Amino acid sequence: MSNKDSKVVVIGAGVIGLTSALALARQGYPLRVVARDLPEDSDSQAFASPWAGANWCPFRSEATDPRICAWERETFARLSELIPEGLAMKLPARRFAPDEADLLGSWYQDVVHSYRILTPSECPKGALGVAFETLSVNAPVYIRWLADELRKLGVEFERRTLLSLDQAFESFGGVSLVINATGLGAKSLGGVEDPLVEPIRGQTVLIKTDVTDCTMDGSNPSAPAYIIPRPGGEAVCGGSYGTGDWNLSVDPALAKTILERCFKLDPRISSTNSISGIKVLRHNVGLRPSRVGHPRLEAERVIVPSYSLNPHARPPADEKRRVGTVVHAYGVGPAGYQVSWGVAKEVKELVNEHFAKQEGKRAAKL
Ligand code: FAD
Ligand code: LAC
Repeated sequence: MSNKDSKVVVIGAGVIGLTSALALARQGYPLRVVARDLPEDSDSQAFASPWAGANWCPFRSEATDPRICAWERETFARLSELIPEGLAMKLPARRFAPDEADLLGSWYQDVVHSYRILTPSECPKGALGVAFETLSVNAPVYIRWLADELRKLGVEFERRTLLSLDQAFESFGGVSLVINATGLGAKSLGGVEDPLVEPIRGQTVLIKTDVTDCTMDGSNPSAPAYIIPRPGGEAVCGGSYGTGDWNLSVDPALAKTILERCFKLDPRISSTNSISGIKVLRHNVGLRPSRVGHPRLEAERVIVPSYSLNPHARPPADEKRRVGTVVHAYGVGPAGYQVSWGVAKEVKELVNEHFAKQEGKRAAKL
């Protein structure tokens, strides 16, 4: 198959689109990334990726889904390779939970390092806890690095808001395969319009600190709190989980509550033993691109063009419609960084399958 026949368009330049693109570009696929928000737009609240913690710490929902566990396992290994160059940072972490179930059956104890159950005296009253060594990345720095790696491989970025999948199939000179990594955009992109996609609003406070210990406190589900140190002498203090909440404004009362809770978790984040001694760099709000049930990672065969924007349009009689494949990769909610390399690996397998089938058909015709 010629290179031209294996062209790919990736819609979306968040951590999922970029990591998937990098996995494909490293395998030699010619591709273009088309996105409304690009990694350099680190102030844009229109995508989630600049606003993440971003550490590796599994969530309750994932423990019951072996596929997601596999994505996370793969990602931990791949991010660990980036520690020597300073892109990822080792993170001694404590995690508090209300009950055994919330400790996720400890499924990841052989993924992270130095996993141990905390004694009651090491946990908040009535809570259970574990300690382990995990990792974090500095989200805006990391996605810019992904984009740089792609550019080094000759990948072009096109800033464009797409209205439909048809437009993606037409771009880059016409392709037979599109990766849909649009996050919340999958709710409105023509040809996808997934009603299950919903935001989970997250407010955080970015602080300057030398503290390198991570604390994730989910012991009181109505008052979640975390401190996620990241490369660069900073930490992301959180958090909030507003399901269905599209509000992008900072709530000052919530910001104060977040700082109070985080100070209680680790007073060393303040230089003066009160919350006024915490050096606040900025207040952030990001929308996690979630999907009711589970993320969507699958290949779909579609007729191109689909005329999804105008279903009553009659295609011109002489128009040749064709079959294309969309690989959907969205809806990763609060876990985009920690699943990214596992998702990218599966995306690559689906892409390989598509082109192998196409090649098989071509050979059969000869
Ligand atoms: P996004 O980053 O939203 O990217 C979507 C892309 O699609 C963008 O480029 C956008 O412009 C583009 N797009 C959308 N629609 C269109 C269109 N019609 N045309 C063209 N382009 C389009 N994850 C972790 O793993 N660990 C953490 O510690 C962590 N902490 C978090 C803390 C907070 C406060 C928040 C908000 C999130 C956190 N996350 C964390 C989650 C993580 O940020 C997301 O899961 C991840 O960024 C999602 O990436 P994505 O590529 O799917 O989507
Ligand atoms: C969040 C991190 C902790 O979503 O994953 O806030």
